[in-house]
Amino acid sequence: MRASRTRIIWGIKHFHAVLLLMLALCTPVHHCDDLEVKGKGTSDLRKASMDVDEADIFSAESLKDTTTLDQQARTTVVYATVGRAQYAFDIYTKLMGNERDPELANAAETQLTDGVSVNYNGAFAGDGEALLFVSERDGNMELYKGHAEGVTGGHRPSLKRLTYSPTLQDRPIYSPDGRIIFVSTHQPAKKPRQGWTAIYSVSGVKGHTVRRLTPENETDYSPAISADEQWLAAATGSGKTGKSDVVVMRSADGLQRRIVAKNGGWPAFSRDGRSIFFHRQTPEGWWSIFNVELESGNITRITPPGVDVFTPATSKGKDWVAVATPDQDGYRQIGVLRMDEGGEWALSQITNKTTHHYNPFLSADGERLGYHRCRCADSDTLEHIPVLERHSSPLPNVDLVRIDGAFPSFSDDDSYIVYNEGFTGVSVAERDGSNKKVIYKGPAFGTTASYHEGRHVVATAQGPTFATEKDVVDILLLADGQSGDWHNTDVLTLTANGTGNNAFPSFSSDGSEIVFRSGRSGFKNLYIMPTEGEAAGLIRLTEGPWDDTMPGWTPASGWIVFASSREYVESNRPAGAFDIFMIRTDGSGLQKVFDSHGGLANHPHFSPSQTSVVFTRYSAEEISTPHQFQPYGDLFAIDTDGTNLRRLTHDPYENGTPAWGSEGTPRELSPEGNVLKCDFADSVDWLKPRKRQADQIKRSAEETLQEDKAVQGKWCPFTASAARRSAVSSSK
Ligand SMILES: *[C@@H]1O[C@H](CO)[C@@H](O)[C@H](O)[C@H]1NC(C)=O
Ligand SMILES: *[C@@H]1O[C@H](CO)[C@@H](O)[C@H](O)[C@H]1NC(C)=O
Ligand SMILES: *[C@@H]1O[C@H](CO)[C@@H](O)[C@H](O)[C@H]1NC(C)=O
Ligand SMILES: *[C@@H]1O[C@H](CO)[C@@H](O)[C@H](O)[C@H]1NC(C)=O
Repeated sequence: MRASRTRIIWGIKHFHAVLLLMLALCTPVHHCDDLEVKGKGTSDLRKASMDVDEADIFSAESLKDTTTLDQQARTTVVYATVGRAQYAFDIYTKLMGNERDPELANAAETQLTDGVSVNYNGAFAGDGEALLFVSERDGNMELYKGHAEGVTGGHRPSLKRLTYSPTLQDRPIYSPDGRIIFVSTHQPAKKPRQGWTAIYSVSGVKGHTVRRLTPENETDYSPAISADEQWLAAATGSGKTGKSDVVVMRSADGLQRRIVAKNGGWPAFSRDGRSIFFHRQTPEGWWSIFNVELESGNITRITPPGVDVFTPATSKGKDWVAVATPDQDGYRQIGVLRMDEGGEWALSQITNKTTHHYNPFLSADGERLGYHRCRCADSDTLEHIPVLERHSSPLPNVDLVRIDGAFPSFSDDDSYIVYNEGFTGVSVAERDGSNKKVIYKGPAFGTTASYHEGRHVVATAQGPTFATEKDVVDILLLADGQSGDWHNTDVLTLTANGTGNNAFPSFSSDGSEIVFRSGRSGFKNLYIMPTEGEAAGLIRLTEGPWDDTMPGWTPASGWIVFASSREYVESNRPAGAFDIFMIRTDGSGLQKVFDSHGGLANHPHFSPSQTSVVFTRYSAEEISTPHQFQPYGDLFAIDTDGTNLRRLTHDPYENGTPAWGSEGTPRELSPEGNVLKCDFADSVDWLKPRKRQADQIKRSAEETLQEDKAVQGKWCPFTASAARRSAVSSSK
């Protein structure tokens, strides 16, 4: 296996210091044998993966001597990822022919990827000879290369894995000179709350160096290259939702870097290379396509208010711009923006399935369009979502396992997992994800499991989520009806009537007490009660005009870890800012475990050895990519003394609610689970202001009136037949 390594060498000369830091933080990646491969084609993939270019820096040799947490025994972190289970993305292509042909919307598509795991963010090489894409088939985001001919008639194109790393690799593009340019979180950011994503390039020639093009302390995303390959455009991040700037740099070395448009993302060079199309969210909330002339800096809005249009893509061969925009039913469709004879921009619809289509890309000649969408829109085979799915882990002895649900926890003896499916009840499953059982139906969230008075018990909270201090949320105790298999569940309410919002219960190690947060005082603070209920005695653990929440009890000794906003009460508190603290069960010994610097850190859970804590944290990866659900969270682990911070997950999803169990996860996970429905809301909704005040809308509408005037007209999105010929004035 070692012989297959050592092809790509990362830019050691330039980033020596960063590398050293990284070596300290990274640990070996999975061997090929450890690949988690779902479904068909396993042997093909394994064969292919033996034959790939692999960066030196990923090799086990260089990473062996890392100091680590909890390495003595194999343990498992189980966690939730919002939305991910339903994604089932594959990449599809259509031949464009005449982009004005109204029949294109219903013309046949070809599936380019093979239906294994999720496959997305593709790019063609040249006129479509090869396809680069991101796949999570090995357990996290890696780059793959395949043929752009598709999977037809059972033909499975040869597949080549290009990267091996537990970090994020995303948005690959080919440069015409043969290099691959992509985004990675390979090197940790040095500043708190800074995104790790940076742009790298690597020559296609074996033995060549991976070069970082993003300067230290900058966060870049969404690379695009000019037709003459001299210039690279990117979104450069602020770490805030949708707030990036468009930057241009020399493609060879990242130098001559300058911002060409504030508040924009997803750049695409015009055919002549003299301007850049990008998307921007206007103050009144619409995502629109803009164009910036590189010489004059003039910015023109191309798509009008009233419709969201985003993710522009261009080609060397054609003048039109591929985009995504919701149709009248709210499904995200791919369209083409083109300028008519009269200098008017018009939009034609290119896809038309009742599912979301994402992130268009074009072959160099513009003849081939690619995009990704959920494969179940037209699949005749039923797919199931396994209850548990393994994720690549950067920690050698910690298995990372994603659950198709939320708020998982391990039973007291680690023999099963308890969790919420959506917010509609409590389920239990075996450690391999088999034998799932619903043990309670109701609007429950949060779980903790123990053994008390001879029965398996689970505590949960029932009521609305993200509610105020006074909303009614009760802590429930679910007790196994003596059978030991959750055949009957007894339900007991532990919190008293009129005590407001009580949630996030966590059992003491012997199951005799529960710590939880309650809003009964007007602030959400922590309390401890006996497992019999608060009527049997209630102790207030913390007190103050802030939120203390999501407590977790140590497996054995008397400490409780929790998320708190206590340091943000004075001054202007950043919305939702939380740090991680721990405190003794007698209320003494308060200490800070992790300082988020005004960011978000929550859902802490002790490791089985009690020496470290896993939690979820706002990871600030740039979200100029509307397919991301929301711009937080990745899982991190930290020692209880506040040292040895390590990032466990690297992806653009919301990873959260981790629990850390004392045993490894079975090698074979059960394929049983819910039927895959590709049922999820388009994430662009999340990126819009959710509760816009009427007066705010008015004010920002006035502010942008001038800008909008230039583009208003009879321009419509995809509303049935009328849409296709409608046009918008351009100031060009
Ligand atoms: C999309 O499909 C629907 C239903 O099949 C059809 O009525 C509509 O005309 C199609 N739209 C386009 C632009 O072809
Ligand atoms: C990056 O940030 C770190 C931490 O603030 C600082 O020490 C370093 O000098 C910065 N590097 C550059 C190139 O500005
Ligand atoms: C930039 O826009 C302004 C105002 O629309 C126009 O007067 C000027 O000619 C433009 N400059 C260039 C170089 O296109
Ligand atoms: C809680 O209070 C409500 C209204 O006062 C009452 O209807 C309900 O029975 C009480 N529940 C319990 C468990 O005492």
